[in-house]
Amino acid sequence: MTMTDGVTLLRGKRIILGVTGSIAVYKAVDLASKLTQTGALVDVIMTDAAQKFVTPLTFGAVTGRAVYTSMWQTDSGSGLPTHIAHVGLGEGAALYVIAPATADALARLAHGFAGDLLAVTALAARCPLVIAPAMDAGMYAHPAVQANVRTLVERGAYLIEPDEGRFASGLHGKGRFPETPALIGAIRAALGRGGNLEGRRVVVTAGGTREALDPVRYITNRSSGKQGYALAQAALDAGAQVTLITSADLHPPYGADVIRVGSAQELHDATMRETIRADALIMAAAVADFRPAAAAEHKIKKGEGDAGLTIQLERNPDILAAVAARRERSGSPRVLVGFAAESRDVVAYGQEKLARKRLDLLVANDISAVDAGFETDTNRVILISRDAVEPLDLMSKAHVSETVIERVAQLLT
Ligand code: CTP
Repeated sequence: MTMTDGVTLLRGKRIILGVTGSIAVYKAVDLASKLTQTGALVDVIMTDAAQKFVTPLTFGAVTGRAVYTSMWQTDSGSGLPTHIAHVGLGEGAALYVIAPATADALARLAHGFAGDLLAVTALAARCPLVIAPAMDAGMYAHPAVQANVRTLVERGAYLIEPDEGRFASGLHGKGRFPETPALIGAIRAALGRGGNLEGRRVVVTAGGTREALDPVRYITNRSSGKQGYALAQAALDAGAQVTLITSADLHPPYGADVIRVGSAQELHDATMRETIRADALIMAAAVADFRPAAAAEHKIKKGEGDAGLTIQLERNPDILAAVAARRERSGSPRVLVGFAAESRDVVAYGQEKLARKRLDLLVANDISAVDAGFETDTNRVILISRDAVEPLDLMSKAHVSETVIERVAQLLT
């Protein structure tokens, strides 16, 4: 059995999960479970209506912690800072997430009601509040519901918009409880507010570019895009506004502005445009150095190559070099991070690349190692800057990313 090493932003953080009476309660069980797996300590509060759908036992089983259902409950054995539940729950909590939040719950929260544990905790807690409304039919669009949501948002609550789709009633509309990855993404975004990249604009590129041979074929490389996506997530966790320019087909992190590209030329154009006002560019994409000199307009037929087929290649633009050259004049982006995949002399080639491409940081990896580099979830990299060479241990791509993002934040201050 293996344990995941969790998410630094969530590890050890106490999160209150308020659950109200919607059919979507069963999905909140998955949310509680996944938050626990990331390392968060999840204290669940259930309203009476929520318990019509799922029992407290279910939540207790996935969180491994006490579940709170009554305002009149005092609990000295739960490990809360005080035995008065509504005060103890709020004390030291990183976030209060109410998911799913029914129309009734939104109304009571908006008006400061304090008649049950869920509502009174919202008044007592000092941490940020996240609300994820979920309701059937057209209820979410009703002016009364919208007014309550507006009130809560104006007061600083972080709103997770419900999805469009089919309801349990068979009707279609907006009001569906989002899936767990979107909820966790929004929770990370709420926790990341005020992080060390708050107010910064970071552009991340990811994936191997695709160079067309004809309308159905292309030349590409083994880059999966995982490291780039993990960097985008780490920058979001640190509070940055993130643009992810990608040629990979992975599910993008919640909150990133995503621009999809195919070829190196498209990546070049998007990167030049998006970095004009960026604070940092992290160039994790595996850019093809060459492309077919002319992509065939129609599918190349076997018969055209009976004697073999020769493809003429020409050079692609060097994107980092182009951004660095413009930076000489404009001064931005202030931080340029490059990646290098080398199969030998990693540090020497890395230092040469750092200088030649005029970078602030180079993340070099040895692609000859089996546990690092392409397609794996782990990486072993060396961080090279103008005045330091820092080899990191083998770690998850998420942790490599957090370390790179920390260095980017240091370079920006
Ligand atoms: N890169 C780029 N534009 C290219 C090629 C690479 O911006 N046309 C970026 C990559 O995204 C990476 C860094 O440059 O961040 C280094 O890529 P690498 O392929 O190792 O460098 P090259 O300049 O292609 O060097 P070489 O082929 O000599 O190893």
